[in-house]
Amino acid sequence: MQEKSIVLTSTFEQEVHEGLTAQPKYLSSKYFYDEIGDKLFQDIMAMPEYYLTDCEFDILEHHKENIASFFSNMDKAFSLFELGAGDGKKTKILLRYLSDKKIEFDYRPIDISQNVLDQLEASVNKELPNVTINTLQGTYFETLADIAESNGRRKVILFLGSNIGNLLHPQAISFLRNIQEILNDDDLVFMGFDQKKNPQTVLDAYNDKTGITEAFNKNILTRINNELGGTFDLDKFLHWEVYDPESGTAKSYLVSKEAHTITIGKLDLEISFKAWETIHTEISQKYDDDIVSWLANEAGLKIESQFSDENDYYKNYIFKKK
Ligand code: AVJ
Repeated sequence: MQEKSIVLTSTFEQEVHEGLTAQPKYLSSKYFYDEIGDKLFQDIMAMPEYYLTDCEFDILEHHKENIASFFSNMDKAFSLFELGAGDGKKTKILLRYLSDKKIEFDYRPIDISQNVLDQLEASVNKELPNVTINTLQGTYFETLADIAESNGRRKVILFLGSNIGNLLHPQAISFLRNIQEILNDDDLVFMGFDQKKNPQTVLDAYNDKTGITEAFNKNILTRINNELGGTFDLDKFLHWEVYDPESGTAKSYLVSKEAHTITIGKLDLEISFKAWETIHTEISQKYDDDIVSWLANEAGLKIESQFSDENDYYKNYIFKKK
């Protein structure tokens, strides 16, 4: 930190300061998601190149009966928690099936955005009036304690969309371990993991010609401009995606096309970019069975079952406590 004493109140301020003064520069992908970012991500999910959403949708549609039988283990009532619920489009396949089969459960979606939760609650009430829904606003970490207490019912925890892919392996393990710690022996975790595949297919999913992913990546600069008084010129940056088929890591960057300096008023900060200097913004990890069982094992979990689409592009795993 500089000698100048400015108080960085929010995490966003702190992390932007830290990331843009680091060498090499980085910003966290969790800041993609404001109202504009949420909308752009919806557009991404609708792109033909972004196969993840369709694959997981197919898996849920094809295997809902089997998945539901794991969830309602011997007809015991359960609570279905969902971390990062979003619009619940995929989850509704399961909700509808469980509700039609008169299986006793309640749905407890968790999201950082109250706006997202309000919309989800309204749509579930409208489309699935027999489903009991109780929303919970907060970060995954904040809400784990609430999940742990809950209502004494069996817990099934959903984490869809390969959202875990934004975490490096050590972070993924500690995240899984946090979940493991609040599980009882017959509780379940149901998680989506995007799989290793033809590297071109992965690259295309994060590098669409229409520029939606580029706009999504650059939205973090827009947020810095709007919320922290930044002077980023979005046209001075390229969206750049790389995929390493060995590690299975897709990485997103913003690359400065020329040497220039920006300022961030609220942080009292001036940041210089050399020509072709990078800001690393996101990782989207791809997995295989060996990596998933290693992660699970490190976190004290075991794989109980798994489901995949016809191309094995994507898999959903059921974990239990070891
Ligand atoms: C929502 C984190 C699963 O990494 O695939 C989509 C976000 N980034 N296109 C992903 C994203 C660029 C997405 N996750």
